[in-house]
Amino acid sequence: MQEFIFELKPDRSSELPWAGVVNASSLDAQRLKLLVDASLALSEVRDFEQLLNLIAKTGVEMANCEGCSIYGVEGENLRFLASTNLVLDQRAGHRARLVDGLRDFLIPITSNSIAGFVAKSGRAMNIPNVYELDPSLPFAFNASLDQRHQYRSQSMLTLPMCDTRGYVLGVMQFINHHNRETSAIAAFSELDTMYLTALANQVGVLLRNARMNDQLRESRVEAVKKFVIASEFTDKDTGLHIERMGRYSALFCELLGLGSAYAEDVRLAAMLHDVGKITTPDAILKKPGSLTAPEMQVMRQHALNGYDILRDSQSPLLQLGATVAGSHHEKWDGSGYPHGLAGEAVPIVGRIVALADVYDALSSKRCYKEPWSMDDVISHVSQLGGTQFDPTLITLFMDNLPRFTEVRHDFH
Ligand SMILES: [Fe+2]
Ligand SMILES: [Fe+2]
Repeated sequence: MQEFIFELKPDRSSELPWAGVVNASSLDAQRLKLLVDASLALSEVRDFEQLLNLIAKTGVEMANCEGCSIYGVEGENLRFLASTNLVLDQRAGHRARLVDGLRDFLIPITSNSIAGFVAKSGRAMNIPNVYELDPSLPFAFNASLDQRHQYRSQSMLTLPMCDTRGYVLGVMQFINHHNRETSAIAAFSELDTMYLTALANQVGVLLRNARMNDQLRESRVEAVKKFVIASEFTDKDTGLHIERMGRYSALFCELLGLGSAYAEDVRLAAMLHDVGKITTPDAILKKPGSLTAPEMQVMRQHALNGYDILRDSQSPLLQLGATVAGSHHEKWDGSGYPHGLAGEAVPIVGRIVALADVYDALSSKRCYKEPWSMDDVISHVSQLGGTQFDPTLITLFMDNLPRFTEVRHDFH
């Protein structure tokens, strides 16, 4: 290994000179403040991409350098996640092109590249000049990005982002440190490296949490879908009906300004609207033609039965599903079932799902009917505002028809 490349253990955060911070120089205090600010940002910013860009900017400021890029481990590769470069960003319009060009940029995790080597080995690399690498090293500097952007990389610090157990979750790469006195490009100092390692490890924790959240979200979606499949007939048409219903319902939440997290919960909860049909005999469920009065009575039980199945759950999502199941056949004028609730006494999710369900049922083929034409569906549904459906929702629906038809086209 070349002399000028020094290595750090992946996790140096516990070895930071915290004891010296009390008497720290103003530069140390400034770096520490940036680190604390970044930590606060981690807990406050919700948009992941925005957050990583903010961290890249913090890194540039802490290191007094020109650029910082963040890559996340994705299988056998590193995927570009965020980047900032003071020199390139100053060129008008360059930033969009730079980030667009990098968006699908993958680096194999092998020893052939600097970032790949760091991700593979978990070791930090501090290189004073990337164009003067010893040819005996396993990796080489890839100058293609420099050439494409008419940029000259020189000093480079590449750090692994590790979680608390030392697993590498990504890489942070810093370019062209400027000496704070002379402004000349110089190698990154060991102290810079230690502070940036602490930042990189914070980002590692962030990436791990984001990944865990993704997995949790995916397993939630999976669990709801499995539940629906287990409780309903599993044909393709029903699957698509449920998918569209969920999306129409989420769209209503979005149009009502209820927030994206709630909209996503409603999307999933809406899929559970008919879970109570697990208790309805097939002879009634699949009967072509109209039901007799006693059969209708049995059919209507599915609302309360669905509510009963879900209501005891500890999961707020399934509790929302219980509300949906129990109220999706209520009507605005109080003539619905099971409780005959009227107006805003019907939970908003019930009002939303009621409209989404009927809109989708009318516009789809069922065993007892052909799909209605779009014009017929729209004129029928719009006439029911104030009787069957919440008039506010009807107005939203009529004002945003193209967005609803877009969902229909995407899932048919
Ligand atoms: Fe239903
Ligand atoms: Fe339905």
